[in-house]
Amino acid sequence: MSAAAIGEPLTRVDGRAKVTGAAKYAAEFEVPHAAHAVMVTSTVASGRITRMDTTAAERSPGVVTIMTPANAPRLPNNGRAAVNPPAGRVLQLLQDAEVHYNNQPIAVVVAETLNQALLAAALIDVRYQSTPPKLDFQAGFPAAHVGKNKIPSMLSEGDVAQGFAAAEVTVEQIYTTPKQNHNPMEPHGTIASWDGELLTLHDATQYIFGVKQTVAKTLGIPEDNVRVLCPYTGGGFGSKGSTWSHVVLAAMAAKVAKRPVKLVLERPQMFGPVGGRPETYQHIVLGAKRDGTLTAIRHDCYSHVSTVEDFVEPSSSQTRMLYAAPVITTSQKLVSLNVGTPTFQRAPGEATGTFALEIAMDELAVALNMDPVALRLKNYAEADPTSHKPFSSKHLRECYEQGAGRFGWSKRNPAPRSHREGNLLIGYGMATATYPANRSESQAAVRFEPNGRVTVLSGTQDLGTGTYTIMAQVAAAKLGLPITLVDAKLGDTRQPQGPVSGGSQTAASVTPAVQAAAEQAVLKLVTLEISNPGSPFYGALPEELDFKEGKLLRRSAPASGIPFTEIVGRNGGAAVEAKASAKPSQDVEEYSQHSWGAVFAEVAVDESLGMPHVRRLTAVYDVGTLLNEKTGKSQLIGGLVWAQSLALEEETHIDPTTGRPVNNNLAEYHMPVNLDIGALDVSALGTPDKNFEPLGGRGIGEIGITGASAAIANAIYHATGKRFRDAPITPDKLLA
Ligand code: MOS
Repeated sequence: MSAAAIGEPLTRVDGRAKVTGAAKYAAEFEVPHAAHAVMVTSTVASGRITRMDTTAAERSPGVVTIMTPANAPRLPNNGRAAVNPPAGRVLQLLQDAEVHYNNQPIAVVVAETLNQALLAAALIDVRYQSTPPKLDFQAGFPAAHVGKNKIPSMLSEGDVAQGFAAAEVTVEQIYTTPKQNHNPMEPHGTIASWDGELLTLHDATQYIFGVKQTVAKTLGIPEDNVRVLCPYTGGGFGSKGSTWSHVVLAAMAAKVAKRPVKLVLERPQMFGPVGGRPETYQHIVLGAKRDGTLTAIRHDCYSHVSTVEDFVEPSSSQTRMLYAAPVITTSQKLVSLNVGTPTFQRAPGEATGTFALEIAMDELAVALNMDPVALRLKNYAEADPTSHKPFSSKHLRECYEQGAGRFGWSKRNPAPRSHREGNLLIGYGMATATYPANRSESQAAVRFEPNGRVTVLSGTQDLGTGTYTIMAQVAAAKLGLPITLVDAKLGDTRQPQGPVSGGSQTAASVTPAVQAAAEQAVLKLVTLEISNPGSPFYGALPEELDFKEGKLLRRSAPASGIPFTEIVGRNGGAAVEAKASAKPSQDVEEYSQHSWGAVFAEVAVDESLGMPHVRRLTAVYDVGTLLNEKTGKSQLIGGLVWAQSLALEEETHIDPTTGRPVNNNLAEYHMPVNLDIGALDVSALGTPDKNFEPLGGRGIGEIGITGASAAIANAIYHATGKRFRDAPITPDKLLA
């Protein structure tokens, strides 16, 4: 087998383990003597618990312990000691009797078996003093507040009044997107086991080091006393980026029960206690000259938060950088509701923000009688219009051109309702996709094993994105080895520290560290050999040597290589390992760093049934180097499918009286299934962005969900002549 190459569409190295069930997810680990815990959650949205009678539950068979606000271990700072770390949230850890949302954790029942725990949990009698919950999003606008966040809540570029005064055509509309919940296939789950003062957590997470830090701080124990393991994450999409209540509750319960405890959330508990995407209300005003030149953009956003903690869904983010308007003004305001705290959900900000902005741009194109692609090219930003920095790399123009060509955009008759096939109205729509390129410091290690294999390690996560494969592929490519000789290991806080797998940053953060570690490991082999009298390289200068295809060789005599196993053997037979760290250089800050894409949609709408069907999506992305064409495209495809879900199906319904999520299951929480998905034509330009990271790759996990929902909405307008501005565009709206 030949050496692995960057970009090669290698099959994921963990694929077989996953489909055969050999891959172990957090809750599947067999921890001896583990008891089963279930979380009891509130049935009111606001108020306090006045009485919790556990008498019957305690007598129920198999019960080990019941933890309530009355008897739960007291935590430092009422369980809020870790609210500051990156992953730290305001948690519900049974430290008081307050209820802030319906479905809030209020007790934990531990029993010998899961069924016994469930039965006992049902026997707990809870009484509340209920107060009227705040559940009406729009009613909260007058009292909306500005959140604490990295993202500035208000920003104006240029003279706003002048910008709109200069406009000859104006589009002003309101766009909304609903509450959503991530619902990865693998629910959140934790197994906590104590060995004296040492805590081991098997946890379903996107951030093992964040869990380690948050749990240690919350419990008031040294960080080094906590080990977190997560070899596989069954999807996360942002919900597993933070440490939520159940993780700490499992650790507390295990301490009380004096034995390991396994706590897995039931599907309905995925709606509230572990975040979700907040509802948005977005007011957009676009001002333009008759020729399409934008004179001003206004984008004011409201999103909801819980009553305990702020989270900003920055839907105005892309509006600050996407089009070259001289005036750009944006704002973000928050409305507190008695619901679970929202969090990052795939492309937080850009997913909802591009839905609004890119429909508004379509409306402007209609108002100007201009082609939507031409309007975007007219306002193409050559540099970031608000930071005024150059882009690290931008080839969006090629995305529009290639996308339009592949899709057959030129065949589109711009008149709405101009294309009919019997009962079906056919529409074409397009939109721009964009997402920031993120990267942070990461460590990795590379180890030459005595058996001739190479191990690459980093304490990161693979949430189904292909991290194992990319780590092995980049190490193999660097060392000139086939990928079959490289084993990737991740998901253990004893490994070199990796960053959170959020913000599409894992590959761009971890692979530079893998490359650096591979270089350092080779250097170790070299150092060992040139100082070893028993080596043929004894006394050589490092620069005279090279490492190719698993062999150390003299550059002057490349045929005379020595396999690394021989070197390992010569040095006592212990693996030769090196660790390295990589972080973005200071220069990166001189650039505005983003990925780009153009999405084209064909939608057929059955006029009498109001049923939309997305027949095909063509998407062309500029995401820098695609490190692995197969796993990379899978990410982009997954994003597009979710964009269709955002446009047409997905919504968490909260009962307006009780605050209970009513469609809290995968039958009623609608999302596309195979039958709903049409032809997907996804490609990436592959132009490296060396200003961003050494291999030139930017993240790909999130950009797929951006823009595409607007392309679908715009295609529905083109098909039907009716404009829809509220996601999801469901048949009832289409028939109205
Ligand atoms: Mo992603 S929403 O940053 O996990």
